[in-house]
Parts: sequence; C-alpha cells; structure tokens
Amino acid sequence: MDLNTRIENTLTQLRTAIETYQPSAFSSSLSAEDMVLLDLIERSKLSVDVFTLDTGRLPEETHEVIGLARQKYQQRIRVLFPDATDVESYVNQHGVNGFYSSTDLRKRCCQIRKVGPIKRGLKGKKLWITGLRSAQSIATRSHLEALAWDETYGLYKANPMLDWTTKDIFAYVAKYDVPISNLYQKGYTSIGCAPCTRPITSGESERAGRWWWEESNNRECGLHVDAHGRLVREVLSNDKNGNS
Ligand code: ADX
Ligand code: SF4
Repeated sequence: MDLNTRIENTLTQLRTAIETYQPSAFSSSLSAEDMVLLDLIERSKLSVDVFTLDTGRLPEETHEVIGLARQKYQQRIRVLFPDATDVESYVNQHGVNGFYSSTDLRKRCCQIRKVGPIKRGLKGKKLWITGLRSAQSIATRSHLEALAWDETYGLYKANPMLDWTTKDIFAYVAKYDVPISNLYQKGYTSIGCAPCTRPITSGESERAGRWWWEESNNRECGLHVDAHGRLVREVLSNDKNGNS
C-alpha cells in the first residue's frame, strides 16, 4: 500500500472513531509513530485530548520532542506525572533503580509511573487512541484490532497505526518534517524510560531494547492488557522476525 493510501485509510478510521465516541484521548509516548499520529490529528483538526505520561525517568531526548511539538503544533500535549507519594515510597523501599532487581519490582515501578497516571488520563473518556503497531511484535500483536472495546479501562480503544510498517513511519516523518527523538539515529527502535531502554543490535527485534535484562517473554509495562488481565503483546527474547 502506498503512503497516501495508508494516510487516507488511517484518517477515515480515526475520524469515524472520534465522531462516534466522544470525548476521546490519545496517549502519546512521543515515539516516531505517535508523532506521526499527532501530525495527522493536527493537520486534520480532529478534536482529541492528547496526553503523555512523564514517568520521571524519560530520556532527555523525549523531553526535547515535547518542546519541538509545542513549537510546531497548536495541539497541546498534556503531561501527566505519577503520584509523588507512591514514587517516594517505592524509591525509599527499593532504591531509585529497584526495577533491575526483579520482574515484580519492575512491574511495580511501571504500575506506579505509567498505569496509575494513564487511568487519570483516560478518566471520563469514551475513546482511547494509541500508536500500537503490529510490526512491533509479529508474534503477538498481529491479533490486535483497529477498534475494540477495552474491558480494563471501560472504553473503546483505537489503534489506527496498527498496519503501518516502520518504513511507512519514517517515510511520513521525512515527507512532513515531523519532529522525532534523536535516539533513532543512535540505534534505538522502541523508546521508553531511559534506564529501561537500550539501542538494538543487528538481527534483534524492534522491541528487544526494552527491559532487555529480563528473560521472560512478557516484557511489557502493563498499559495494554486484555479483559483477562493478560498483556496484549509479548516480546520474545531473540525474536528475529523482520519487523520493518
Ligand atoms: S509500552 O507498553 O512498551 O510502554 P510502547 O512504547 O510500545 O508501550 O507504546 C505503545 C503505545 O502505548 C503508545 O503508542 C502510546 O499510546 C502508549 N504509551 C506508551 N508509553 C506512553 C507514555 N509514556 N505516555 C503516553 N502513552 C504511552
Ligand atoms: Fe520504571 Fe523502567 Fe517501567 Fe519506566 S520503564 S516505569 S523506569 S520500570
């Protein structure tokens, strides 16, 4: 599919979802795909609340993207922070980098710094828009739907970027001069918190740099879970599927 057709299809899908379910919110991680989605929302003047979760551990490059977006777009990105008392309690008990000690402590950190705040961001909304893409993990994201009821948060969830390939994303970024993180030039392909993200090496999957020290195949932050509390996607260690 050529880029223009991809853009048109995505906009049609997005418009229909937003017109049907209001109010709507787009949670942006400031990744390249999420910046493409923001650009589409802006250029089409869609009515969406855009927010990002500042975990307190984001790389400086992600903060720079927020600044660039403020200069380029009318649409403001609302920044949500974790509950200060929860963060203090975690850090005092487990240390500021306690998440390296065990998967449980890592998930607890994600729970405090991401899952708690997203509940606030989605409160009162009827539609949640994400930048999830199938190509980020062929093994388990292929079953994701473009629009579906999300039992966990009690609203509809739209994944309009689902079918975009990595090549599509970077073609759009170049064509429309979309601001993205400098980390993409340094070998990063999926970007989260600074201490939990590294660049990938040749042959690794796009998400191999996230929580790379964990062996398990469900290295996820817990934002995206299904009705049974299962993660909607998993990352297989040494997944060599071509993801671009
Ligand atoms: S994660 O689950 O591993 O952290 P990923 O980085 O792939 O998620 O992003 C998938 C989608 O989750 C994004 O398109 C966005 O909708 C949401 N998301 C992830 N991190 C954030 C964040 N810090 N702020 C807002 N939304 C986020
Ligand atoms: Fe904490 Fe790392 Fe999760 Fe960020 S990605 S919330 S630092 S465990």
